[in-house]
Amino acid sequence: MAREAAQHAYVPYSHFPVGAALECADGSVFTGCNVENAALGSTICAERTAIVKAVSEGRRKFVRIAIYGEGENYCMPCGACRQVMSEFVGPSGDLEILCTRSGGRYVSYRLSQLMPHPFEF
Ligand code: THU
Repeated sequence: MAREAAQHAYVPYSHFPVGAALECADGSVFTGCNVENAALGSTICAERTAIVKAVSEGRRKFVRIAIYGEGENYCMPCGACRQVMSEFVGPSGDLEILCTRSGGRYVSYRLSQLMPHPFEF
């Protein structure tokens, strides 16, 4: 699903499509792609697109997210996305993050590994 979602990526600047598929605690899945902007800092990553779609549809607890990027390197979530993920961890208090690369190989991390001390107040 993450790979399919990347087909909708709007990437006129980087030409690097990313897709994400987010599994919620109730079993529903929301997908997202990166949506770039001429003001480059206004670009939205695939992961945050998926998270915002899910929250806006009433889901706030997530168990797993797959991220797909076409490249040699595993597609890791950026710092901003890690912070946003930290806001909505599911029942386990953690989130599984599957990072893929072209060819379909992936590595699995926990959010607690990639973002051990998120900002909170
Ligand atoms: N990007 C994502 O969508 N997710 C990530 O985790 C890393 C980066 C996007 C943002 C931008 O459109 C492109 O990849 C290159 O940085």
